This record gives sequence, C-alpha cells and structure tokens, in this order.
Amino acid sequence: MTSSPTVKISNLCHYYGEGDLRKQVLFDISLTIPPGQIVILMGPSGSGKTTLLTLIGALRSLQQGSLQVLGQELAGSSKQKLVQLRQKIGFIFQSHNLFFALTARQNVMLSTDMHPQRGDRERAAEILARLGLKERIDYHPHALSGGQRQRVAIARALVNQPPLILADEPTAALDRQTGRDVVTLMRQMAEEQGTTVLMVTHDNRILDVADRVINLVDGALEFDVSPLELLSGATATGAGHWSPPQTAAAPTFPPLGVTADSLGA
Ligand SMILES: Nc1ncnc2c1ncn2[C@@H]1O[C@H](COP(=O)(O)OP(=O)(O)OP(=O)(O)O)[C@@H](O)[C@H]1O
Ligand SMILES: [Mg+2]
Repeated sequence: MTSSPTVKISNLCHYYGEGDLRKQVLFDISLTIPPGQIVILMGPSGSGKTTLLTLIGALRSLQQGSLQVLGQELAGSSKQKLVQLRQKIGFIFQSHNLFFALTARQNVMLSTDMHPQRGDRERAAEILARLGLKERIDYHPHALSGGQRQRVAIARALVNQPPLILADEPTAALDRQTGRDVVTLMRQMAEEQGTTVLMVTHDNRILDVADRVINLVDGALEFDVSPLELLSGATATGAGHWSPPQTAAAPTFPPLGVTADSLGA
C-alpha cells in the first residue's frame, strides 16, 4: 500500500513586506515528506527555517506555490479548514506559552480538553515522566527551570499523538541527556505510530535520530541527505562544530551550533 505524503510542497515562494520593501525569503521550495519520517531542517540564521515551518503549520498564509499537509491543500483553504488542520499538528516552539496558573500536568492536559477522555490525567503524567518530570507533575511553571518548562511544552505537543510534529529548536534549552530523551520519544512515535517530524535544530548531537537532513541557505534548499551521508563527509573540528561534507552536492554547510547572536542577526 502506498500512503500519501504527510507534507508535499511544490514551488513554494514567500515574501515579507510590501511595495519597495517587499523581500523574497523562500525561493522555489519543493519537498515531499512521507509518513513516519523524521526530517531535520538546518541552515544559517535568517535562512527561512521558521518561516517554512509556520507555513507548513498553517500559521502563516501561503502566498505562492502549492502546499499539501495531511492530505489538505492549503492554497485557497477556508479559515475553518486551516484551524482544523492546526489541531492535528503538534507544535513545539521556543516560546513555550505555558499557563502559569496551571500545574505541569494541567498544562499538558489542556491539549486533550477538546475531547476529554478517561485516562487523560494518567496519559499526561506518563508523558511528563518519560521526559524526566515525574517529580514535577504538580508544580506550576514559575517553580520550573527553563528546560523543564520546555519539556512541559513538548509533552503538551506530543500527548495527543499528532500525525505531524513541527518543532523549532526543541532541544535548545535542554542538556544532552534530556535532549536525547526528547528525540528518542519522537523516534519511537515515528516508528510505532507513523508520526512525521520536521524539526529545526543546530544540535549536531541529535542528527542521528533523523532519516533526512535538509539544509536551507538564503531561502533555498541546498541539500537533502541522510545523516549518515552528512556525518561520513564531516569531521569534528572542535566541540559542537563539524566541517562541511566534502562533496560537490553539499556546498555550504553552516557551522553547527551557530546562533542568531553569533551571526549578529
Ligand atoms: N514578520 C516578518 N517580517 C519581515 N521579515 C521577516 C519576518 N519574519 C522573518 N523575517 C525575515 O525573513 C528571513 C527569514 O526569517 P526566519 O525567521 O524564517 O529565519 P530562520 O532561518 O528561522 O532564522 P533563525 O535560525 O535565526 O531562527 C529573515 O531575513 C528575517 O529577517
Ligand atoms: Mg527561526
């Protein structure tokens, strides 16, 4: 049985600004992601990663090209259809938007509120425990560290077992082991439930979790390879940095671990 792709992008272009200030930020992007695949999206600061992620998540209006997500064409879709689509997607963004009046467990349960079921409390507790927050289930966000809050937000995005997860630097605030726990959980969801994951990261320690690594440079896709291909052409040049793969197909690979600050963006 062939299953239709979770994400199918054809000739997508995107622009910010109006009139003379109009600036193109995404150039003729075409990309197909089948169900159950974990794709890591890399690229220098300002290359358009977040813009692409928010377009796929129907959080930003499509301007040009075709974008199909979970079987739905976003071009010309009604507002109501877009809202319904967003509800099927697990979003993990850096601003975690937790409710400070609620405990960790209640924050996670918020995303199950649409269809409350018996077992929600247990499910919320279980996923928090898997992310190392067993002892913190009844804490409020003000009593949690930044990394712990990030994990609550991750638990909230995953608890409903969405078919598509869009994550923007989900492990940036986490230590090595916790970051590993998060991606291991995503890997397991991909294998067991066919969850598709598109994740922006600069974290080379989690590259191996991906089926594919895509690099976006100045708004255009520069390469699309397996982590093995990437790592086999790469050599460690210092903590957290890899050299570019020495192949013609892989032109400028950004220094991993690069941050907006370090680029002055
Ligand atoms: N709302 C906006 N209005 C105008 N320009 C924007 C807007 N959002 C982003 N941009 C510009 O679009 C380009 C792509 O931004 P985007 O946030 O997608 O980059 P990114 O790859 O996610 O970068 P980073 O790694 O720093 O998060 C940048 O040049 C940015 O300045
Ligand atoms: Mg970004």
